[in-house]
Amino acid sequence: MLSFTWFLICIINQFHGVAEAAFKYIDVSCVEENGNYTEGSVYEQNLLTVSVLGCPLVAEVVVWYYECMLRYANHSIFSVSEPLPGISIYGRLNVSDYNAFAPVLAKTLKSVIEKAARVSARGHFATKSANFTSLFDEIYFLAQCTPDITEFDCRNCLTTRRSIMTNLYNGSVRVTSFSPSCQLRYDTTKKFYRDVSSDPPALRPSNTPSPSITGVPGILF
Ligand SMILES: *[C@@H]1O[C@H](CO)[C@@H](O)[C@H](O)[C@H]1NC(C)=O
Ligand SMILES: *[C@@H]1O[C@H](CO)[C@@H](O)[C@H](O)[C@H]1NC(C)=O
Ligand SMILES: *[C@@H]1O[C@H](CO)[C@@H](O)[C@H](O)[C@H]1NC(C)=O
Ligand SMILES: *[C@@H]1O[C@H](CO)[C@@H](O)[C@H](O)[C@H]1NC(C)=O
Ligand SMILES: *[C@@H]1O[C@H](CO)[C@@H](O)[C@H](O)[C@H]1NC(C)=O
Repeated sequence: MLSFTWFLICIINQFHGVAEAAFKYIDVSCVEENGNYTEGSVYEQNLLTVSVLGCPLVAEVVVWYYECMLRYANHSIFSVSEPLPGISIYGRLNVSDYNAFAPVLAKTLKSVIEKAARVSARGHFATKSANFTSLFDEIYFLAQCTPDITEFDCRNCLTTRRSIMTNLYNGSVRVTSFSPSCQLRYDTTKKFYRDVSSDPPALRPSNTPSPSITGVPGILF
């Protein structure tokens, strides 16, 4: 039986000054080991409605935008945690006071990960900020997992992103690290999210293993 599943997860409501129509493209991951679809197939027609670039013929794809993530596959992608593959973007500049920064970074990453893992009504979403010098230098943090994964998988996914973040981009002024199941960010140069209201956003994922091969997007704002 053919199936086509896709979802789009966004945090655009949490970003300042970002128009819905202007997602900033970051990268695409073509999951080539899961094979190609057939040209001219109904699967391809479905894909055209999602309209991605990037990975001709590949049946399973993850696309990261600064504000959103789009995934599609010919098998169910729900409730399966995928901390890898991933992509990270970072600022070339390093923080000026590494000794003050490092312990605050470590401590707050730990707590924002824990908070995001535990809060599932909001789609495993948490933000935090912390000061790291007496000059009021502030670090802003955001952690998010897709709402379909468990607390355990969310923590595991974010912890994987954290080690990549701290090992590869040690001391950078800002890092964003994404995988299909989670994202972790910090920024010392600007507050890049809006404080969330108490209303949890709704998620309407699609999982339609049916011969009609339709996909309805799930959008998390
Ligand atoms: C899938 O398509 C790509 C590009 O169109 C091609 O390079 C690759 O060999 C194909 N993979 C398989 C498994 O057929
Ligand atoms: C997905 O598509 C690939 C390539 O056509 C195929 O090998 C694989 O069996 C498909 N998986 C499912 C679950 O349909
Ligand atoms: C930032 O630190 C890294 C090592 O952590 C170093 O390779 C890089 O050159 C530094 N960048 C600047 C602009 O100093
Ligand atoms: C950081 O310092 C500023 C200025 O004193 C203060 O307004 C802010 O609340 C502090 N942030 C945190 C997370 O403590
Ligand atoms: C990170 O950078 C700091 C300051 O440059 C250095 O002392 C520390 O050893 C680095 N840590 C890693 C894991 O590279």
